[in-house]
Amino acid sequence: MRRTLIAGLIAAVTAPLVCAINSQTYTWKNVKIGGGGGFIPGIIFNEKEKGLAYARTDIGGAYKLNNDDSWTPLLDFVGDANWNSWGVDALATDPVEPNRLYMATGMYTNSWDPNNGQILISDDYGATFTSSPLPFKVGGNMAGRGMGERLAIDPHSNNILYFGARNGNGLYKSTNFGASWTKIANFPSSGTFIPDPDDPFDYNNQIVGLAWITFDSTSGAAGAATPRVFVGVANKDESNIFISEDAGATWSAVAGQNTTFLPHKGVLSPSENTLYISYSDGAGPYDGTNGAVKKYHIPTSTWTDITPVSGSDLYFGFGGLAVDKLAPGTVMVAALNSWWPDGQIFRSNDSGATWSPLWGWNGYPNLEKYYTFDNSLAPWTGSDFVDTTPGTLQIGWMMEALAIDPFDSNHWLYGTGATIYGSHDLKKWDTAHNVTLRMLADGIEETSVRGLISPPTGPNLLSGVADITGFVHDNLDTPRLKSYDNPKWMTSQDIDYAGNLPTNIVRIGAGDEEIKQVAFSSDSGSSWAIHYGAPDGVHGGKVAFSADADTILWRTDGSGVLVSRNQATFTANNSIFYGASGNVFYISTNNGATFAASGSLGSSTSVSDVLVNPGLTGDVWASTDKGLFHSTNSGATFTSISGVTQAWSIGFGAPVTTGGYPAIFAAANIDGVGYFRSDDAGVNWVKINDAAHGFGAISGNVLTGDPRIHGRVYLGTNGRGIFYGDTAGAQPPDTATAAPTSSVAVVTSSIILTTSVADPTSAPATSQVPVTSSTSAPLAGATAAVFGQCGGEGWTGATICATGSTCTTSSQWYSQCLPN
Ligand SMILES: *[C@@H]1O[C@H](CO)[C@@H](O)[C@H](O)[C@H]1NC(C)=O
Ligand SMILES: *[C@@H]1O[C@H](CO)[C@@H](O)[C@H](O)[C@H]1NC(C)=O
Ligand SMILES: *[C@@H]1O[C@H](CO)[C@@H](O)[C@H](O)[C@H]1NC(C)=O
Ligand SMILES: *[C@@H]1O[C@H](CO)[C@@H](O)[C@H](O)[C@H]1NC(C)=O
Repeated sequence: MRRTLIAGLIAAVTAPLVCAINSQTYTWKNVKIGGGGGFIPGIIFNEKEKGLAYARTDIGGAYKLNNDDSWTPLLDFVGDANWNSWGVDALATDPVEPNRLYMATGMYTNSWDPNNGQILISDDYGATFTSSPLPFKVGGNMAGRGMGERLAIDPHSNNILYFGARNGNGLYKSTNFGASWTKIANFPSSGTFIPDPDDPFDYNNQIVGLAWITFDSTSGAAGAATPRVFVGVANKDESNIFISEDAGATWSAVAGQNTTFLPHKGVLSPSENTLYISYSDGAGPYDGTNGAVKKYHIPTSTWTDITPVSGSDLYFGFGGLAVDKLAPGTVMVAALNSWWPDGQIFRSNDSGATWSPLWGWNGYPNLEKYYTFDNSLAPWTGSDFVDTTPGTLQIGWMMEALAIDPFDSNHWLYGTGATIYGSHDLKKWDTAHNVTLRMLADGIEETSVRGLISPPTGPNLLSGVADITGFVHDNLDTPRLKSYDNPKWMTSQDIDYAGNLPTNIVRIGAGDEEIKQVAFSSDSGSSWAIHYGAPDGVHGGKVAFSADADTILWRTDGSGVLVSRNQATFTANNSIFYGASGNVFYISTNNGATFAASGSLGSSTSVSDVLVNPGLTGDVWASTDKGLFHSTNSGATFTSISGVTQAWSIGFGAPVTTGGYPAIFAAANIDGVGYFRSDDAGVNWVKINDAAHGFGAISGNVLTGDPRIHGRVYLGTNGRGIFYGDTAGAQPPDTATAAPTSSVAVVTSSIILTTSVADPTSAPATSQVPVTSSTSAPLAGATAAVFGQCGGEGWTGATICATGSTCTTSSQWYSQCLPN
């Protein structure tokens, strides 16, 4: 609710004007969770240079493979202005000049992303990029993002590229290395498949469009455009694979095709003159209950169905598809989503005539695993997200990316909803039928971070993370052994500690409907207890813990502001809470039971963050769409901080000198959008991020300083995990001119709160980037059959069970209708 502007209250600007902003050099590193944490829709090897490969993600940019199996991020320069470039919908690596790299970037084709997409172009393996804007949106985090690749380079004339667009925009072509693009007007189909035309969230109601482009490198010769090109389109019950025999001048549907399912991948086996195609009945990446694998022999125009399983064994679609370029006839295909008992991959060494699986049944419920499992690079997955028992999806889900190294038949990689797997002993599949399955996403940090705290005692950092709940970061540089447990929600939406008793921590969850969404720890996050006073089915929002850990204030998603006291003892003013909404600041002196409007925040219309100084009575900061505001009288009046025109997440850090006023970190607009630190209570600021570190969309990010290390800041992104920054350059001059104001004794009745807790009538400010990598809300559907699936993360089908059966959870990922 927009509040009436109270004019004049903040008329006087008391701080001196800020001149040019100094910068300080920072060293930025990822806080290591280890091994991904989100969906990997594409893995692409270069056909010419051994060892060159890339992985693309849907919300966190793209990575280049190193020769030690680790990955290096390529799009960390992406900042707020070009945030949608972290959604990479397609990637192409040049088969002629391997230094050339292209990506089609853009996050959403709906209103969530106001900007059109672009082709990012590099001629130095992704070290630097130029951008070629497209006249339409690109959907790196839309349905069908694992289909592909929808961007391809002509292997005989690498100045030529094709890009298959979404949303009815058709097929585009460049003849100048991606610099400019022209629509191919006579391409026959721009796509008709829409995952859910009635999606009330305006997400699955978009046309998926063109899915992949595959040049037939056996046609034509180097130096002239490749004549034969295949294009797969997300169509059902109408032609969905098209061919040109004249380098894109004319197109027709490939004769004899079967249009029952959507073609996800079209992979050429040059030595067999054959195009292999994987199909699913959904666009993915979450869905798919039926599908097929087919091959098309080009010289004879012959189609052959080579689907590895049939009948009741075929309860999934197919996604990832790869051929071994060094071993003609060796083909691998992944079940896109076999949600139970595990994902599945099939391998054939006779062109699909026969297949062998990655696991088989060894007398229900036991699985015979034709692999050994090694998750040492992402150990948190073992105890928490994949397990060694049946029914827990050890080998993965959302498997759209599958690739065999064109220079090494033993080296393969595949992407899942959470990480990358692979090995260097793939040929053992055909001999011992026993490969080593390793998690190989070291260097990839793809989480969407929702909350960060750095308490003054205990571990320096605790996180709340989407999809994989969050972690105690007692070491910033080593992979996490486990995430929060008991409760382990999908997402920990926010986290706070008690100012006077900082080993006491509260966190709230989002995403799971069936369990309570508030939990406490009294040992710095090592162990947790569910707050049984929390109402069922209420989740999300923001949480604040009172200074003495006796009162929780919870601004829920959709259920107003709730207050809970878990201990009986209270001290005076211990449980004052602040809140803000619009331009009104609120104070509650009765444990959050009621709030009264207090000071005004200028002309602000939305508040991002509220920060309370635990060391100085009445010292409060609020960041808004109109600036940064400071109060020294418990919010009765505010001063607008000069030079700050907008601010998002704000946090305190250690003061320059012990006992001084804490450093303030701000995601803000101060002569430009970026990340800043002030060591003198907002008088002077230094910019702490640089051109190589943009951190994506600023409104989606969270930050906090470290109260123990001056200059240290933790920054949580929406798709590139958590970073920590430390000062590396000298403190710029004139940045601590104001005397530290904190000579006042620390109050015991200090106030702890978080964003926008008050105004229960107001909708919370939401991030401009609302959807994370591998989550989707299950939609209520029709009735599931007995023994059918009825739930699990990502499930979009029926959730009601047939009469006589009950929906029973077997894992986070799978619920089944079991007979009563
Ligand atoms: C097309 O494919 C579907 C699914 O694989 C199959 O059931 C159907 O019989 C096929 N149609 C023809 C004409 O082969
Ligand atoms: C695969 O090899 C591992 C390690 O040698 C072994 O423990 C496992 O039993 C083997 N699996 C099969 C199915 O042979
Ligand atoms: C092909 O695969 C089968 C079954 O996996 C295996 O028995 C056979 O030895 C393989 N052939 C070659 C040439 O690797
Ligand atoms: C409690 O807080 C109010 C408002 O900030 C202040 O006026 C009062 O002095 C405080 N009382 C104590 C005992 O600190």
